[in-house]
Amino acid sequence: MKILGTGSALPKKTVSNDMLSEFLDTSDEWITTRTGIKSRQIITDERFEDLAALAGERAIQAAGLSADDIDYIVCSNVANCYITPSLASLVQGLLGIKGPSCPTMDINSACAGFVYGLDLCDALLQTSRASHILYVCAEEVTRFVDWNQRETCVLFGDGAGAMVLGKGDNLLSCKLTSVPMADVITYRLPLEPTPYETGEGIDTHLPMQLKGREVFRNAVNCAQRDIADVIAKAGLTADDIDHFLLHQANLRIVEAIREHMGLPEERFHSNIQRRGNTSSASIPILLDEVVREGKIKRGDLLLFDGFGAGFVTGAAVVRY
Ligand code: COA
Repeated sequence: MKILGTGSALPKKTVSNDMLSEFLDTSDEWITTRTGIKSRQIITDERFEDLAALAGERAIQAAGLSADDIDYIVCSNVANCYITPSLASLVQGLLGIKGPSCPTMDINSACAGFVYGLDLCDALLQTSRASHILYVCAEEVTRFVDWNQRETCVLFGDGAGAMVLGKGDNLLSCKLTSVPMADVITYRLPLEPTPYETGEGIDTHLPMQLKGREVFRNAVNCAQRDIADVIAKAGLTADDIDHFLLHQANLRIVEAIREHMGLPEERFHSNIQRRGNTSSASIPILLDEVVREGKIKRGDLLLFDGFGAGFVTGAAVVRY
C-alpha cells in the first residue's frame, strides 16, 4: 500500500479541563500533569457518521481522486449507535460511492485499530481485491463513558481520521499482537433477556471499565518492544525514522517511550493536549494534522504504534 491522501474531521464543541471541573471532582492541574490533556472535542448534535464521511471526503480530495475511484471501504470503530449496518456502509451511502463494486466492512481492534486496519488494507491491495481503499477510523468514545467516573471520562475525545490507500510497497514492516486480558479495558452493551431466561446475571448497564495503571504499564512495555521490532524488521535503525506517531492515550506514555529511545522531541508528534484520546482515530487524526501543517514530506519514514483493549498492540513503519 501507499498513502495517497489524508483527511480528518472533529466535532465543533471544545471542552476544556476547567469545564469538566464544573461538575466533576477534578482539576485542570490533575488532568494536565497526569495526562497532558488540556481540552478535547466532544460530539454534541452532530451525527457521528457525518463526521466519519467528512474525514473520508477530505482524504479523497487530498488524494486527487473522486468517489468513483474508491472500490473498497474499511472503517475502524469500537462502538457507535449502529450495531448494523456497518459504519463503512453508512459512509458509502453518505459519499455516494458506488464503485464498479465496493465492498464495505468495519473492524474493531480497539485503540490499536488503526494499525490493524492498515495491515488488512495492505493485504487487500496486494491480492488485487482493491485498487483504492477509503480507510476511515472514527470514534465517539465520549458517548460510552460514565460521565460521573472522573478516572475515565476526562481521558477521551471524539473524531475521525481517514486516508485513501493505493497500490504500492510503502508498508515496510508491521507487527500485530494480542494477549487476552479482558478485564483491563471493557465496555459491554446492555442485553435484553429472552423469554427463556430470568434475566438474572444479565447486565443492564455497565459503563466502560478501565484499569488505567495496568494499561499504562502494558502500553509502555509493549510499545518499546514493538517499535524496536518493526524498525529492525524494516532493516532500519531508530535514527532513520523521521516521524513517530503513537496512539495518543497519555502524553506521559509517549514521553516515556521517547526518553527510553533517547530521541529528540521534534520527531515525536502529539495532539493529545487538544484532542484527548480518540481511540483508533487518534493516529490518523494526528497524521492528517501533521501532514497539513507541512511537517511531513513525501519519502519520509513514519512509525505508527497503537495499543488498547484486548490487550492488542500494533506497530508499523511506512514510507509516506
Ligand atoms: N481528577 C482528579 N483525581 C483523579 C482523577 C481525576 N480525573 N482520576 C483519578 N484521580 C485520582 C484517583 O482517585 C487517585 O486518588 P487516590 O490516590 O486518592 O486513590 C489518584 O488520582 C491517582 O490515580 P491513579 O489511577 O493512580 O493515577 P495515574 O497516575 O495512574 O493516572 C491515568 C491515571 C488513567 C491517567 C493513567 O493511568 C493512564 O493514562 N493510563 C493509560 C490510559 C488509558 O488507560 N487509556 C485508555 C485505553 S488506550
